[in-house]
Amino acid sequence: MVCLGNICRSPLADGLLLRKIKERNLNAHVDSAGTANYHIGKAPDSRMIKTAAKFGTPIEFLRARQFTAQDFQNFDHILVMDQSNYSDVIALAQTEADQKKVNFFLDYLYPNQNSEVPDPYYGTLKDFEAVYQLVDEATDALIQKLFHEQ
Ligand code: 4NP
Repeated sequence: MVCLGNICRSPLADGLLLRKIKERNLNAHVDSAGTANYHIGKAPDSRMIKTAAKFGTPIEFLRARQFTAQDFQNFDHILVMDQSNYSDVIALAQTEADQKKVNFFLDYLYPNQNSEVPDPYYGTLKDFEAVYQLVDEATDALIQKLFHEQ
């Protein structure tokens, strides 16, 4: 799960997936990262922590890190939140196989649309809640697709 700062959108997607994978007894290695280095080592944004907690998803234990080319070796799927994340991640891909791992996270919910999860950082709590609902739906769609759930 990749966004810009790794303190709002991608840690939410990370935490929601971790929670759902655990609840469903599925097996996967999930992580998140930011393309930027602004917030390395920090916990998620307090507004995102509060919003996620309100809907039962713990994310406060996550810590921001920067996406690196090594991530192409460690992960099968690299899911970006917006177009600029896509460009930044693709720029680090060294092979065609690397490039193919990169997709828009919301494509699981809205196939082939390259839809973006809006960045709530400069928004209101309402924007954080809207992002939560969107990412919640998209993680359900992702699990159905990748784990072939009914
Ligand atoms: P995120 O949100 O990419 O969803 O973590 C942002 C967090 C921080 C900044 C921008 C977006 N920032 O400019 O510091």
